[in-house]
Amino acid sequence: MRQISLLFFIGLSLHVLLVKGQSQFNLIPSPVELVEKEGSFKLSPKTRFVVGEEAYRQVVSSIIGNRLRHVVGDLQVVVSDKGKDNIRFVIDSTDAILVKNREAYILDISSKGVMIKAPSPAGWFYAVETIMQLLPPKLESNEHDYLGGEFLLPALSIKDFPRFQWRGLMVDVSRHFFSKEVLKSYIDQMSKYKLNTLHLHLTDNQGWRIAIKSLPKLTDVGAWRVPRTGYWKGFKAPQPGEKPTYGGYYSQEDIKELIQYAKDRYVDIVPEIDVPGHSLALIASYPELSCTKTPQQVLAGDPWNPSRTNVLCVGNDSVYHYLDLIIGELADLFPSQYIHIGGDEVTRDYWKKCTHCQQLIKDTGLEDEEELQSYFMKRVTSIVESKGKKVIGWYENLKGGMAPSSIAMSWKSYEGGITSSQNGQQVIMTPAFFTYLDFYQGDPLMENGQFTVARFNKFYKFNPTPEGVKEELVLGGQGSLWTEQVPNERKLQSMTWPRSLALAEILWSKKERRPWNDFIVDVEKHLPRFDAAHIKYSTKFYEPIIQAVKEKNTYKVVITTEVEEVEVYYSFDDTSPDNFYPKYEGTAIEIPEGAHHIRVISYRNGKPIGRELNLPLIEVKKRI
Ligand code: ACM
Ligand code: ZN
Repeated sequence: MRQISLLFFIGLSLHVLLVKGQSQFNLIPSPVELVEKEGSFKLSPKTRFVVGEEAYRQVVSSIIGNRLRHVVGDLQVVVSDKGKDNIRFVIDSTDAILVKNREAYILDISSKGVMIKAPSPAGWFYAVETIMQLLPPKLESNEHDYLGGEFLLPALSIKDFPRFQWRGLMVDVSRHFFSKEVLKSYIDQMSKYKLNTLHLHLTDNQGWRIAIKSLPKLTDVGAWRVPRTGYWKGFKAPQPGEKPTYGGYYSQEDIKELIQYAKDRYVDIVPEIDVPGHSLALIASYPELSCTKTPQQVLAGDPWNPSRTNVLCVGNDSVYHYLDLIIGELADLFPSQYIHIGGDEVTRDYWKKCTHCQQLIKDTGLEDEEELQSYFMKRVTSIVESKGKKVIGWYENLKGGMAPSSIAMSWKSYEGGITSSQNGQQVIMTPAFFTYLDFYQGDPLMENGQFTVARFNKFYKFNPTPEGVKEELVLGGQGSLWTEQVPNERKLQSMTWPRSLALAEILWSKKERRPWNDFIVDVEKHLPRFDAAHIKYSTKFYEPIIQAVKEKNTYKVVITTEVEEVEVYYSFDDTSPDNFYPKYEGTAIEIPEGAHHIRVISYRNGKPIGRELNLPLIEVKKRI
């Protein structure tokens, strides 16, 4: 009895420390277990980094060199077992959590030194990222190399490991091209939050972005489209004689450099070649691969014209020969075990009219074009597997399905993941409404997109293991950034952050998630880190959410916010509200007669926060 109550009290006080510890240090993703202790460790240029074996000197130099160079300047990595005041990196799999997971780590900070234990250097890397979050935001700046001085690390003990092995972000580099420098910065940022997979959507109707040595026209022709600026869906089609000057591609040397850069940050780059649909850039390069074989131009984003065929002729054997060449070079280039072959949104009309496609249907005894698509996916899967790689494909609810050995990426909703897992396939979750980073974040009337909204707090509701899924087959999940309306790097960043902090939390931390209101407090502590690193993030989660209701014959406006700790001020008189204007007090406000706009703005501590929204009431009323 005595023992039980003692254990109970130990348990209770540990729990208090866990809760207190997490909210005090604002770690994202929050660690599985954190115990706060007394004291601190002084990190300074004198700090020595200790490894057990010569073989690890280089790996620790690169982990630390990339992240702590502002603090420690010239690195001292030593191979030794003795001494105090140092940071030790130990390969260890004795603790239960370290046995289970190669990315796990145990971090112990005391006034005497720091001990990092992990079963592999990936765990060391994540421990160092956790340490970085215990240090001031200015250390995230790239503007200086060495700050000197001393920094205090709080004494604590952390045991940590990821919930999922696939913690990804996808970037579409086809609709807009992003240089390798942009991608390096992207990798830097994602890896700070323990995201470990960068899925590159390398090909689509608007550009082919990777050099394939055996098929040079893919980049000579396919990487270039006519330049257009403005609203994506309103782009003018290529004009006669107009030169395709917008675009770019990665050489194989660029890709090797990127892969190494990512590897140093424990990020796996997974290439995607999207076939048999979304293939206009490939067909513009080699028109003989479509059913019509007619010359095509790479699309700029202009309205779709059905005379354009963006679908490969799956009844043409040359298609498989070309894909074999492409996949062969990808397999040689990328160390990842995965190759993504797309498979989404295929227009099957061309196949209906094509003699080769129809002949194949007959010869193989297929029922129709839908089964033909399944045939194609399975045949390309066997090409990929012949190169020693695993296939990932976008899940389509397809008669005949995907090859059972392939991994389904569930994108329209959770459904594809649930169904595929029940069929025994591994799955990756990227359900659009919770994880699509191209969906806008604020009021629809203030955004540049034709898509839809997925606010930050919606991302935090992402559930990688919805009811009905076989959990053991869920590899993880990702945010997917389609770039039709992402023409530059700043936009790329602000579509990604802070929403991807929610993904990082969900994909790494324990299933029992802290409440949104606690999470957002930690997020706000990270924003200065983004500022220091010059990474743009969206502040639209501060902005009011405007709805309308109709009571009897009067229209009223209802205002809510994602974040609790803001005040909202409004006007109906076409002037800009500030915190001396009427404050929204939580009850619906009647729209005065004659008013045609509502303007609203959030404030905190007497300061405006987020944009002023200026919305036509005629549109707001449609929201009833
Ligand atoms: C997709 O969003 N078409 C995969
Ligand atoms: Zn055909």
